[in-house]
Amino acid sequence: MTRFLVTGVSGLLGLNFAMAVGGKKNQVTGVANTTPLTWVDFKCLQAELTEPETIEKLIEDEKPEIIVHCAAIANMEACEANPKLATEVNAILPGRIAAAARKHDIQMIQISTDAVFDGSKGNYTENDTPNPLSVYARTKWEGENAVLEVFPQALVTRVNFYGWSVAGNRSLAEFFVNAFSAGKNVKGFTDVFFCPMMVLDLAEMLEEAGHKNLQGLYHLVGAQPMSKYDFGLAIARKFGFDERLIAPASVADGGLTAARSPNLSLDTGKIVKALGHELPDFERGLDKFHAQYRHGFPEYIRSLA
Ligand SMILES: NC(=O)c1ccc[n+]([C@@H]2O[C@H](COP(=O)([O-])OP(=O)(O)OC[C@H]3O[C@@H](n4cnc5c(N)ncnc54)[C@H](OP(=O)(O)O)[C@@H]3O)[C@@H](O)[C@H]2O)c1
Repeated sequence: MTRFLVTGVSGLLGLNFAMAVGGKKNQVTGVANTTPLTWVDFKCLQAELTEPETIEKLIEDEKPEIIVHCAAIANMEACEANPKLATEVNAILPGRIAAAARKHDIQMIQISTDAVFDGSKGNYTENDTPNPLSVYARTKWEGENAVLEVFPQALVTRVNFYGWSVAGNRSLAEFFVNAFSAGKNVKGFTDVFFCPMMVLDLAEMLEEAGHKNLQGLYHLVGAQPMSKYDFGLAIARKFGFDERLIAPASVADGGLTAARSPNLSLDTGKIVKALGHELPDFERGLDKFHAQYRHGFPEYIRSLA
């Protein structure tokens, strides 16, 4: 039984992580901000984490053994629109949480992103130097550095994941399912590569990494690189949607304001070695995503807010 404090618990990763590790297994306190949760089987609080005193008070009241810091401004276009807020939440806040975690001898897992790289080569290792292309990517990289500067024993994971969210639209996979089920045509980028991991698999890997007390920087993404088009196609096939609804396209025609890195495949050799086993298989993760859909999980998770 471990006491977890999970920030960003109303978000895609935070809620799925809290639900996966909570229940009878561990004691979980989740912190939401503007989206209160009901009917969850863990304690859920609401707090503005950038306010002074909030973190100290949470630590004092909840006495966590591991802080999993998922809260962020994770929408790339929102970061472009409000770089000051993105800096405050993504770059400065993680360092403040790390300092508090160090002071109270608490383990911290900082959630970062594959997007810190410019994507010019792919297969990046932890030794490659990031070159962020967007406000989101820059502020997340600054957040990583802030954490490791004050608390080198913290665990910083660069992730990429998909799953079902309270908002119903937080992951690319949800975007595809929403569009396909409404019979809408979408574009799938053939020139943007990434390594998606099902959020339940990520939750399991993060819990294991926490229990193994991994420290420093690790790449923790899906085992299989693919284009966003191929990801959409895999979803259409798994769910039995009409494959003709997804058309191959270039990201240049996507009308996005924040620059996207073309190849965000990451080398996961370091974490595979540290965990002592391979990372979860893409097809099995997609099976879980589909099984949740068949059992009405998307409606259920949306009902929690
Ligand atoms: N989604 C992806 O594919 C992806 C990929 C790579 C890395 N990541 C990283 O993974 C982490 C989780 O992402 P996500 O997609 O789960 O994010 P999300 O769904 O957008 O959720 C963000 C969470 O942060 C909370 N939050 C934001 N500002 C806050 C503040 N000032 N005080 C307290 N809470 C605050 C939000 O609370 P309210 O909603 O209650 O206001 C929400 O719970 C982030 O660090 C993100 O950068 C995400």
